[in-house]
Amino acid sequence: MNPSPLSSIRPATTDDFDRIAAIAAEGDSSDSNARYLSFVAEHGRLLVAVLDEGVDAFGGMVPVPMGEPGGDTSVAMVTDLFVTVGHRGRGLGEALLDELLDGHPRRMTASSKHPAAVPAYRRAGMQPRWNLLYLEGVATGGGPPLQPAAWQHDRAELIAHFAADGAMVTADAVAMVDDEGVDVLRVHSDDAIRVMTEVSMAFAAGVRIRACVPERHPLATWMQARGFAVVDHDVFCTSEGVEFSSAVSCVHAGLA
Ligand SMILES: CC(C)(COP(=O)(O)OP(=O)(O)OC[C@H]1O[C@@H](n2cnc3c(N)ncnc32)[C@H](O)[C@@H]1OP(=O)(O)O)[C@@H](O)C(=O)NCCC(=O)NCCS
Repeated sequence: MNPSPLSSIRPATTDDFDRIAAIAAEGDSSDSNARYLSFVAEHGRLLVAVLDEGVDAFGGMVPVPMGEPGGDTSVAMVTDLFVTVGHRGRGLGEALLDELLDGHPRRMTASSKHPAAVPAYRRAGMQPRWNLLYLEGVATGGGPPLQPAAWQHDRAELIAHFAADGAMVTADAVAMVDDEGVDVLRVHSDDAIRVMTEVSMAFAAGVRIRACVPERHPLATWMQARGFAVVDHDVFCTSEGVEFSSAVSCVHAGLA
């Protein structure tokens, strides 16, 4: 296949956001609203690939602290990588990844199951490690409401972003509540089952709960034993030696 006529890769501006959202929607992602894109651009990198006829691909990355506080242990999380249908398979994804990850040898991402995705991430030095399960079930009710509290862990800027989007923040959990149910965006605790039990009891019986949980985390087994179904999965890919903290049991698939 002929290479695409790439004229440049450059940082995205807010003027690109509508086009970016359209490219993401073509790739079956509905998450790319302006607030999300601004977060990625401000805290990491948000790049667009410009072809002769305009923007035809984009990618994002945020650095995620990992390991001991104070150490230089950040890992670049690829948040998004999307190419318009007509330009896929021509090297644009790889070119964007090169720019997104320049200077970041430690890398990770939650890959879609698109046939070009894992090959692109392999080429960028990331190997498939485990599945990130999209779990869906229902609340049990019968407990007190969640208690808003100061977040007790790292990723303060991420938690502030979720809160600004309207999420409920407790000491160990972040939950986005809307008419359709509850999305548990983050759980950080050595006792994830206690935290998820509290979330499940805080909402009326039957309210839908969704969460993205590493398949190897005990919370995934526990939730499935309580009727949560795996409705989808991503393939989590990392470079050598990158270990995801076992204290983090629910994540945002894009932002980790
Ligand atoms: C995934 C995606 C970003 C990759 O970008 P791309 O420009 O199409 O991919 P590239 O041309 O850079 O190729 C990347 C690798 O995939 C391989 N590849 C490309 N198309 C492929 C296909 N249809 N089947 C299998 N492998 C394919 C390439 O050979 C290359 O691997 P190599 O370097 O080992 O040869 C793009 O296809 C896309 O937007 N897909 C839909 C949205 C999506 O799922 N995004 C991923 C979100 S995690």
